[in-house]
Amino acid sequence: MNTRIQVTVNGVQYSHMVEPRLLLVHYLRDVLRLTGTHVGCDTSSCGACTIHVNGKATKCCTMLAVQANGCQITTIEGLSHNGDLHPLQEGFKECHGLQCGFCTPGMIMTAADLLQHNPQPTENDIRHALEGNFCRCTGYHNIVKSVLYAAEKLKEHAVVH
Ligand code: FES
Ligand code: FES
Repeated sequence: MNTRIQVTVNGVQYSHMVEPRLLLVHYLRDVLRLTGTHVGCDTSSCGACTIHVNGKATKCCTMLAVQANGCQITTIEGLSHNGDLHPLQEGFKECHGLQCGFCTPGMIMTAADLLQHNPQPTENDIRHALEGNFCRCTGYHNIVKSVLYAAEKLKEHAVVH
């Protein structure tokens, strides 16, 4: 039997009837048409589907949409503000942190969670935080540089404001 869920995604409230078996990633992609969140494995292995649920990085390919009822969700589409890239998005662009881009939304959402809790991470901290996110293209070095770039930008921003 379908169930009504209410969620806030990127600051917008939604209410939908959903099948109990509908995965959150498919709700985001197919119902809300937020296709920045990717599906790479469906088994919580690759991290391509990482979003924030109540502020915490979450792989939404193994979470049901009904489990998100009442939650605050942020996807990659919600990271930029007024057309300005988030420092992580800027970092990935500046430091060549992506090639095909398939892993990138999940990498960025995981890194954003890291920077919220650890604004000045070491290279090791970054590698440890991203160990659940797979990239087939970059060899990870430029991804780490991209996150360091973002941490530096956020520090400058904090000093200015
Ligand atoms: S699609 Fe969710 S972890 Fe791979
Ligand atoms: S950039 Fe292609 S999988 Fe990471």
